[in-house]
Amino acid sequence: MKLIASASLLLILLVAANYALAAGDAAKGKQIYDTICVACHGPDPSKDGPLGPSIKGSSAELIKARVILGKYPDGYKPKRDTAMMPPFPQYKDNIDDLAAFLK
Ligand code: HEC
Repeated sequence: MKLIASASLLLILLVAANYALAAGDAAKGKQIYDTICVACHGPDPSKDGPLGPSIKGSSAELIKARVILGKYPDGYKPKRDTAMMPPFPQYKDNIDDLAAFLK
């Protein structure tokens, strides 16, 4: 009985931890945005920046493709046909944070 109880507790903890990861940390995302992305996308992601387009509402899939791989998801029509944005693979673990901030 005790074993089942601890196994269920462990399961609940694992699910909760997984959910926390998947949800992303918007505050952390904002911190990265304000440090890196702001230079080209401007202080307000819902407006076009000095160099990059507005990116408010970008999906995690799109952010991942741009930030880690410097590409676009299959079938996605880019807002610009330039290729000026360099990838920032050092933020590979923060895609969900950026997505939470930009949503
Ligand atoms: C050096 C300038 C620069 C920086 C820094 C930059 N971007 Fe960009 N970004 C661009 C430009 C310019 C485009 C338009 C496509 C191109 O030319 O690469 C773009 C396009 C994008 C797009 C695709 C928009 C669309 O729907 O077509 C996303 C998403 C994006 N950037 C996210 C980010 C995030 C997140 C960061 C910060 C980690 C960031 N960018 C940092 C310049 C930049």
